Amino acid sequence: MGRERTGRILIAHYSRSGHTARLADALARELAARGFEVAREEIRVVRDWNKWLLPLPLLPLLPFLPLYLLSGAFRRLWHRHFHQPEQAIRALRHSDVAGFDHVLIGTPKWLYLSFPVARWLTLVRGLDGRRVSAFATFCGPPLQVFELEMLFVPLDARLRARGAEVGDHLAISSDYHPYFFFGEMEALFRWLSRRVFGRPLTDFTLDGEVGRAALTAFCDRLAGGGD
Ligand SMILES: Cc1cc2nc3c(=O)[nH]c(=O)nc-3n(C[C@H](O)[C@H](O)[C@H](O)COP(=O)(O)O)c2cc1C
Repeated sequence: MGRERTGRILIAHYSRSGHTARLADALARELAARGFEVAREEIRVVRDWNKWLLPLPLLPLLPFLPLYLLSGAFRRLWHRHFHQPEQAIRALRHSDVAGFDHVLIGTPKWLYLSFPVARWLTLVRGLDGRRVSAFATFCGPPLQVFELEMLFVPLDARLRARGAEVGDHLAISSDYHPYFFFGEMEALFRWLSRRVFGRPLTDFTLDGEVGRAALTAFCDRLAGGGD
């Protein structure tokens, strides 16, 4: 038996099209049922960017993507030097998180961190010494390098740079991608899911067998059920 680790938890998230918000709601329900006192922060942008402008700052990786996927040394180099875009966010309800035992930060994957969450990480106070875990949604299945490392390695590095104690990760597929015109990216990720995992992409969503199990296991670990 692990030691009980309930207490005050803040669930902060940004969501552009609703999927990360739905995951944040599910986490809030699960953690409240495990005895946590749950507070919420919805990170809101000052101004929504046009959907076709969002990928522009991400384009520099594209020519290097094969190298990124193949070489761990290149990935380490890239993660040290790449430019993480940020987007202005509105005033926070919990601008200082020092009063919480644990903070969860939720983001959609926009190649790396979503831009509003990157801004939250620079603005929020009280991260020093705070245990922070991360949750995310992205279209694809949990591909080790392209999805998980590309998102969580830079996220964890930013948390450490702010003095936070990096906790756990949860990644859930949304089976949704806004690009390009005819669901091309969704089709690609559905194909990859079958090819790499031998499972339909829907298995990794919040309504799928693997996604639900991942959510339960994540909440059990947060509550001290085993780590
Ligand atoms: C600019 C941009 C980049 C994205 N990059 C990725 C990606 O690298 N991998 C992926 O699987 N999905 C990617 N997506 C899809 C989102 O991560 C996915 O739709 C997410 O679940 C949206 O969450 P939301 O509904 O909370 O905004 C991207 C979406 C946008 C807008």
